[in-house]
Amino acid sequence: MNSSDHKQAAQKQWNQTPCGEVAGNKENLDYFLSVEHNRYDVYAPWMKDFFKFDAYAEKKVLEIGFGQGTDLAQFSLGGAKCFGVDITKKHFELATNNFQLRGLEAEFHLEDASKLHFSDNMFDVVYSFGVLHHTPDTIRCFSEAYRVLKPGGEFIVALYYRYSAFHMLNVLLINGLIKGKLKKLGYDGLIATVEKGADGIHIKPLVKTYSVRQLKIMLSDFREVSINIKHLDKSHFSLFGKFLPSALVKLLESKLGWYVIAKAIK
Ligand SMILES: C[S@@+](CC[C@H](N)C(=O)[O-])C[C@H]1O[C@@H](n2cnc3c(N)ncnc32)[C@H](O)[C@@H]1O
Repeated sequence: MNSSDHKQAAQKQWNQTPCGEVAGNKENLDYFLSVEHNRYDVYAPWMKDFFKFDAYAEKKVLEIGFGQGTDLAQFSLGGAKCFGVDITKKHFELATNNFQLRGLEAEFHLEDASKLHFSDNMFDVVYSFGVLHHTPDTIRCFSEAYRVLKPGGEFIVALYYRYSAFHMLNVLLINGLIKGKLKKLGYDGLIATVEKGADGIHIKPLVKTYSVRQLKIMLSDFREVSINIKHLDKSHFSLFGKFLPSALVKLLESKLGWYVIAKAIK
């Protein structure tokens, strides 16, 4: 597959199944508040504390891959001037709705993160959560993030972590080997099924995982790079999860979580 095939596969995936979709009428504010509740209270209760979305008042923030606009809305509620790019039309429409219904403002663009139209040194923050592992041009996207950041600006990026419990146990061991999906779908098809609605055959977005070492190398132009591993729950250990005490799962999060997250300064 070439770069434009991957882009089409991503668009097909998220036009069909918007990221973080819940039941409800997408024309109503209640829908977006349910998406938000599901994200920060159920799916990833650690997110708000970790990212401190409200600490960027008056800063210019660009989100790469804004999805339904939930995180960007938090930056906006904290007083940031918000911009976003995404390649999926459905997400563009949903995020626009989300902001309108909340009375918030942002500049949204249907645009590939590997070719940003923004001029150099424009943003205080470039934020991207769960996006840049879905493009073959990840390194180019990192260079674009660097280019559009002001000197001293912050890049915050979360990618899937290769050595996470979810990847090693659920994806590779249980689904891949024990259930035989690795043989049936191949690795690219198997890993694509981590996205809701993807069958790894007809709906097969590109999904990559990264190690801490790789991420550090990709950020070698930046300074003050700090890396954390986050997001672990009992379900990531499949059937074994119910035997694990919650305290142990909490302890293991920084080693086995599903996201490897970097904060880095230009
Ligand atoms: C898993 S969703 C994450 C959305 C959002 N960040 C969230 O966490 O809910 C991945 C998003 O990345 C977008 N995306 C994938 N490749 C992209 C690219 N090359 N440039 C911009 N956005 C991209 C998709 O359209 C989709 O909205």
